[in-house]
Amino acid sequence: GDVGTRTTAIIGALKGLEGPLLPILHEIQAEFGYVPQESLPVIARELNLSRAEVHGVVTFYHDFRERPAGRHVLKLCRAEACQSMGADAIAERVKALLGIDFHQTTLDGAVTLEPVYCLGLCSCAPSAMLDGEVHGRLDAAAAAELVAEARR
Ligand code: FES
Repeated sequence: GDVGTRTTAIIGALKGLEGPLLPILHEIQAEFGYVPQESLPVIARELNLSRAEVHGVVTFYHDFRERPAGRHVLKLCRAEACQSMGADAIAERVKALLGIDFHQTTLDGAVTLEPVYCLGLCSCAPSAMLDGEVHGRLDAAAAAELVAEARR
C-alpha cells in the first residue's frame, strides 16, 4: 500500500549510508509522524535484517513512536538531573491529570505523553517540552498549567 511505497522510497534514498537503519527510521517518522508497523517488514527485507531486529531498534530508542501522536506532544524529562529535582512527582501528577501513562494519548486525541532523556536544560530542572517548546523549573502548578495548555 501507500505506506509500503513511501517506505521503499525512503529506504532507496538512504540505503547507501553507513549504518542506514537509524537515518531510515528517523526519515520514516518524519514522513508519517510515527513508524508504522507496515514499514518494519519492508525495512527488514531491504536491509537484510530480521523483523525482530528492526522492532528492537524502534523500541530501544525513545525517539521513535509506534503510533500516531495526538494533536499535542508533551515530553517530560526523565534523566538524572531532572530526577534529582523531583521529576518523578511531576510525572505522576501529569499522568494523573491526563489519565494516561507514558507513550499513550488521551482518548480525545489531544495529548500524547512521552518521556525524554535530557533536554539540555538541566540547570532548570525539572524540565519538559510541549510541542517543541521547552519549559524549565516545573513545580506542580506549572505542570498543571502545561497540561491545561496542551488540552486547549
Ligand atoms: Fe532533564 Fe537534562 S536531565 S534536562
